[in-house]
Amino acid sequence: MESKRSNQSHEEFPMNGGKGKYSYAQNSNHQRLVADITKHIIREAILEMLDLETLLHDSSNVIRIADLGCSVGPNTFFIVQNFIDTVNLKSQSQGHGFDSFEFQVFFNDHVGNDFNTLFKSLPEDKQYYAVAVPGSFHGRLFPESSIHVFNSTYALHWLSRVPKEIVDEDSPAYNKGKIFYIDEDKEVTKAYFAQFERDFESFLNSRA
Ligand SMILES: C[S@@+](CC[C@H](N)C(=O)[O-])C[C@H]1O[C@@H](n2cnc3c(N)ncnc32)[C@H](O)[C@@H]1O
Repeated sequence: MESKRSNQSHEEFPMNGGKGKYSYAQNSNHQRLVADITKHIIREAILEMLDLETLLHDSSNVIRIADLGCSVGPNTFFIVQNFIDTVNLKSQSQGHGFDSFEFQVFFNDHVGNDFNTLFKSLPEDKQYYAVAVPGSFHGRLFPESSIHVFNSTYALHWLSRVPKEIVDEDSPAYNKGKIFYIDEDKEVTKAYFAQFERDFESFLNSRA
C-alpha cells in the first residue's frame, strides 16, 4: 500500500494499482468472497426498499448508484452488476420492461486510487454509464438528493486518520509505534473507537 496525506486531517492509503502480482486487482479474493456472501442482503434490501413506481413517475428513469471505496476492481463491477440485475428483475416482475431504467454508476475512492486501471477494466458489456468521483467519503461528494443507492463494501471501517493520541509520546494512548493493539491497552482502544465515532458521524452527515 502506498501512503499519502491529502491534507492535515485526512490520510489516504489507496490500494496498490495496476494489474501486477502485488496489485489489489490480483489480491482481493478475500474481499470478493465477502461481497459474494453479502450479495443476498443487498438483493433483499433493493427488493424491499427501492420504490420503482415512484422512480418511474419521476421526470427521469435514471437510477444513480454510488460505490464508496471502490478501489481498482474487479469486485466493484461484481457488486454493481448484482444491483442492476436485481433492479431489472424487480422491474420485470412488476410488469415494467426489462430495460425501463438507465443506470449511472459513480465510482468513488481517494484521489490517489488507480482510476485509470479501474476504467480500463470496465466490463465491455456493462449496462451503465460510469463516472469517477475522487475524494474522501467522510465528506460531501454529491449534490443534495442526487443518488438513489449507496454501497460501500469492505471500506467503511477505514479511519480518516491515525488518532493523534496514538502517536503522541506524552499521551496514555501512545501506541509505541506499533500498528496493532491488544485488548489490555484500553486507552489505545478508546482512541481508535473515538476516531471511528467521529468518522462515522461525518460519513452519515455527508449522506443525510
Ligand atoms: C479493501 S478496499 C475495498 C475495495 C472494494 N470495495 C472491494 O470490496 O473490493 C478499501 C477501499 O476503500 C478506500 N477508502 C478508504 N477510506 C476511504 C475514504 N475516506 N474515501 C474514499 N475511499 C476510501 C481505499 O482507498 C480502498 O480502495
